[in-house]
Order: sequence, then C-alpha cells, then structure tokens
Amino acid sequence: MDRDSAKQAAAEAAVQLVSDGMCVGLGSGSTTAYALEFLGRRIQAEALNVRGVPTSFATERRARAHGIPLASLDDDPALDLALDGADEVDSDFRLIKGGGGAHAREKVVAHQADRFVVLVDPTKEVHRLGAGFPVPVEVLPMAATPVMNTLEAVGATPTLRTAEAKDGPVVTDQGLWIIDAQFPDGIDAPAELSRRLCNRPGVLDHGLFLEMATDILVGHPDGSVDHHSAS
Ligand code: 5RP
Repeated sequence: MDRDSAKQAAAEAAVQLVSDGMCVGLGSGSTTAYALEFLGRRIQAEALNVRGVPTSFATERRARAHGIPLASLDDDPALDLALDGADEVDSDFRLIKGGGGAHAREKVVAHQADRFVVLVDPTKEVHRLGAGFPVPVEVLPMAATPVMNTLEAVGATPTLRTAEAKDGPVVTDQGLWIIDAQFPDGIDAPAELSRRLCNRPGVLDHGLFLEMATDILVGHPDGSVDHHSAS
C-alpha cells in the first residue's frame, strides 16, 4: 500500500476543517507533518488568521518552516481543533499514540480542544487495541525499573526505548524516558490499564487515548477519505 499517499489524503482533508480565526493544536509525526505543510499553504494562500499550538520540538520547527504562527496554552488555553496522527485506532475511537514519543504533550493539547481530529492511513485501523503496537509509557528515569516491574505484573513485555543516533535511551522533550509495553494478545480493558498507569508514581503519561477523539479521518492511497465522527 502507498501509505504516504493515504497519509496525505487524510492530512489534506483534516486541514479543510480549519477556519479563519481558529487556534489549532498541532500533533506530531509523519501524517501530521503533511497537515502542517497543507495548513501552511492555506494560511499563505487565503491570508488566514490561524495560530497553532505545537506538541513537540519537531512540530514547532516544522510549523515555523511552513509559516504557521505559533501560540502556547498560556496564550490560548481553549483550542478549536487539534489535529494529530495515531499508531492504532479501534472502532470505539480509542487510540494508541506515542510512536514519536510526544504523547504526553499531545494528550494535553488534545484535551484542550473542542474537536480532536485523528488522521491515519488504513494500516492503523485495528480490531483489538495493543495487539500490534506497544503502549508507550513516559517515566522519570529513576522510576524506570519499578515501572517495568509493574508493567510485567499486568501482562506486558516492557522495553526501554533506545535512541538510534545516540547511545542509550530516547530522552523525550521533557527529559524523561519511554518504556514500550507490548501486550502479546492485545489489551483486555484499556480504561482499567489507563487508570493503573496514571496512578503509578513515576509515570508522566501513557499512549492510550480513550474517549478523546471526536473525528477519525482514514485516508486511502487513491485520495479518498473516510470521515468517522463520534456520536
Ligand atoms: C507521536 C504520535 C504520532 O502521531 C504517531 O506515532 C503516528 O505517527 P505517524 O503519523 O508518523 O504514523 O503519536 O507521538
């Protein structure tokens, strides 16, 4: 499958939801990167007054490169829309995010938005959450081993995410580490797992996004887009 074309289709459709005067949450990852490109073009071509709140250093840099004026939640705590990708989406609008390690900021920004629009290609659609993609858990470095023990106790195989162009762990934009928790048979009770992880000292946040997405746009390689709206 030509996933890039599918991602572009979803991103282009998502950017059509942006109107003049909006403040928009800007997610992270390769699908959102296409949305930033399309949004930058619309802002220039239509002289739109739109501001974006970025969810990572990478997105901040990309948004600047595409001429998108930036804001923060200090300036604009109430967002009209947040646009972001996902690693898995199920039919109940539940997501796993954090493949790019930005899920903690992404969750804050999505929570502040009236509408949280998720852009994916069809490979991200799953029947059972967690059977393919691990749940990223962002932790204080000194809590990494105890949190890995907790994850083993709930049936996961935890792995400390290691950097590719650096020796050692991935260090997030917050200066923390990420543990990827693989659930061999998927996740039985995502809400219960979310609660347990949120209550675990040393965990900043995890990549389960439950009851947050309002719209899921699934792009296809032929340019068509399925738009699912939560009722
Ligand atoms: C980053 C994310 C991304 O949105 C997610 O990993 C999807 O990325 P891509 O669009 O590159 O497939 O959650 O933390």
